[in-house]
Order: sequence, then C-alpha cells, then structure tokens
Amino acid sequence: MHKAKAYSAASATSPLASTTIARRDLLDHDVQIEILFCGICHSDLHQVRNEWKEVMPTVYPCVPGHEIVGRVTKVGAAVTKFKAGDLAAVGCLVDSDQTCPECKAGLEQFCPNITLTYNFPDKHLGGVTYGGYSDSIVVTERFVLRVPENMDLAGTAPLLCAGITTYSPMRHWGVTKGKKVGVVGLGGLGHMAVKFAHALGAHTVVFTTSPGKKDDALRLGADEVVISKNANEMAKHAFSFDFILDAVSADHDINAYIQLLRRDGNLTLVGAPEKPLAVAAFGLLFGRKSLSGSPIGGLPETQEMLDFCGKNGITADVEVIPIQKVNEAYERLVKADVKYRFSIDMASLKSE
Ligand SMILES: NC(=O)c1ccc[n+]([C@@H]2O[C@H](COP(=O)([O-])OP(=O)(O)OC[C@H]3O[C@@H](n4cnc5c(N)ncnc54)[C@H](OP(=O)(O)O)[C@@H]3O)[C@@H](O)[C@H]2O)c1
Ligand SMILES: [Zn+2]
Ligand SMILES: [Zn+2]
Repeated sequence: MHKAKAYSAASATSPLASTTIARRDLLDHDVQIEILFCGICHSDLHQVRNEWKEVMPTVYPCVPGHEIVGRVTKVGAAVTKFKAGDLAAVGCLVDSDQTCPECKAGLEQFCPNITLTYNFPDKHLGGVTYGGYSDSIVVTERFVLRVPENMDLAGTAPLLCAGITTYSPMRHWGVTKGKKVGVVGLGGLGHMAVKFAHALGAHTVVFTTSPGKKDDALRLGADEVVISKNANEMAKHAFSFDFILDAVSADHDINAYIQLLRRDGNLTLVGAPEKPLAVAAFGLLFGRKSLSGSPIGGLPETQEMLDFCGKNGITADVEVIPIQKVNEAYERLVKADVKYRFSIDMASLKSE
C-alpha cells in the first residue's frame, strides 16, 4: 500500500476537502498512473450529495472522479500494453469479472460484477474505491485506455465519461448522415453529444433551457437550437426526430420530447435525475416509439471513441480549475453554469 493525495467529502453536506488515501501496490497486471487532469461529472455531484441513495448509496469518505487522464509511472510484471511515460486514461470502470458473456463481448459496463471507479467495494484494500480527484491511481491493465498523443489533455479527460456515454448510444441507435437527432441539455454530456452527432453527419438540434447557450450550441455543431421553454418552437419539430438523447440532470418533462419523435423513433436517457420521471403511455403508443437508457460504454468502444476523437480533433470544451475551486465548481454545476466541463488540473494538488 502507498499513499496518495486526494480530495474527499466526509458527508452528503460537507464540502470536498484535502485528504490522504491508500492505493494498492502494483499487482502483475496493474498500471500506476500519475493523474494530470480529472473532469467533473454531474454524477460526481449526485454521488457526493447522496442523491442516488435509492440505487447507489454513498459510502463516506467519498473521493469522486471518473474522467481521468495521466501518465503511466509504473507497470506490473505482466503488463504488455503500457510502459512508464505513456499517456493513459481511466473512465468509470476499474474492474469486472472479465469472464462473463458481457465481458467477453467487450460490454464490461453490463457485467454483473463490475467495480466502478469510486464508491464501489474495493476488492483489494476493502472499503470502497476512490476516484480521480487524486494525484495517482492503480488500475488493472484491461481498464486503462490509450490516449492519442496529439490531444489536449485537459479536454480529453471528460471523454472518459461524458464522451463515451454519448458516443455509445449514438452508435447503437445508428446516428448517421440523413438522421435528425436531438440533444436535450447542453451540459458536459450534451455538448459532447452535439460534437458527435455533428461529426457523424446527422442534422443536429439542441434543446436547452438556457437561451444564453444558443450561440455556443451552433458553434459546437448544432444545425438548430430550440429554447425548450418555448412551446411554439417545440411544436414546430413534432413527429420529426429519429433519435433524441436526453442528458438532463434534473427533473423535467420527457413527454414533451417523446412527442417530437417520428414513427419508430427512440429517446435514450443518459441523464440520471434523482427522482423517477413520469411517462405518458399514449405518447409512446402512437408512433410505436421507444424509450431507453444507456450507461457509459465498454472498453473496446471507449478506445474506439478516443481514437475517433483523435482522428477528428474532438475534445471537450473545458474550464480548467485548480482542485481548491472544486466546491465552487459544484455550485456552478447545479446552476447549469459551466462551459462545458470543469477539468481539474491535478498539479494543484501538489500544494496541499
Ligand atoms: N448514463 C450514464 O452512464 C451517465 C454518465 C454520466 C453522467 N450521467 C448523468 O447525466 C446527467 C448529465 O450529466 P452532466 O455531467 O452532463 O451534467 P451537467 O453538465 O450539469 O449538464 C446537465 C444539463 O441539463 C440541463 N438542466 C439542468 N437542470 C435542468 C432542469 N431543471 N430542467 C431542464 N434542464 C436542466 C442543463 O442544460 P441547459 O442549460 O442546456 O438546459 C444542464 O447543463 C447527470 O444526471 C449525470 O449523473 C449519466
Ligand atoms: Zn460521469
Ligand atoms: Zn463480466
């Protein structure tokens, strides 16, 4: 065991504060990474504040962070994919049983025995796993991604959750040229969804509650922007979408979007609000529409997404902050006031 610097929350109502945590010493298949940047996902905030207590209650102290980019400092004896000095990235998963049909299919996100990057039982040290608001992490090789060398690292970190979570359902539901695609909520996930939908050639429409984000949405690749509070603007798009990705973090009316789907259209939820959402059955019935959800993505698809981003020059639009500003960043995240992802420069942890 060795020590690492980190930021943790002591309870649902405490601010995040400096601490020291234990990381395991390297096993044969382990990669040790010096963390350079970690994105702030709204899931970090849900988890820190125990907003998902019904599904995934938070164990304190909680060290969040699952959008991790850094450099390999050491590798175990059996590691073949990485060596010291390589760029590396870690997302929401740090382990799985690696043997079940889902793992064999490279869909580790559906493995019944996954280990999430934080707030999940730690098989090695006991207690729970600690995430990326830290200066280092040790992860088994299969769950470490390669980062194309040409990428801006602060903007690459958010790809590990916001990126794959939006890329995966778009690939699954066939987003491509000729399709009309909606993205609801222009936050960390939403702005990545816009970049991907645009890069995949779809006609992309952003739905936002923030009129001030309109110009940004167009710059990010949207063909049209709808202020979702305006019923007339919404009505113009009735029965026209092939696919809508809903990336909203709070309670909202999803029926308003189901109405915008065409026959056999799909609305996929990636947002994970605290409370259940109400669904009007008739909205789905008329038009044989479907409503589904999608969690993160498996390792092969996450690598595919990173390579796609490397090739197409895609990274997240980030506000880089020192870790000392993390609590302020959380307050802004709740107000949908971030353009469009906070990325923590982990060098700031050195002064703690
Ligand atoms: N499925 C998964 O695997 C997965 C992975 C990561 C995150 N998530 C979840 O996805 C959600 C979004 O995460 P994020 O990091 O992108 O969050 P975020 O950056 O805070 O973005 C959420 C956006 O939702 C919109 N919004 C916020 N409150 C709203 C309200 N009351 N009514 C309508 N719209 C509202 C805002 O967009 P506008 O200003 O444009 O309206 C806001 O920017 C969170 O619930 C998170 O936990 C799920
Ligand atoms: Zn996330
Ligand atoms: Zn498995």
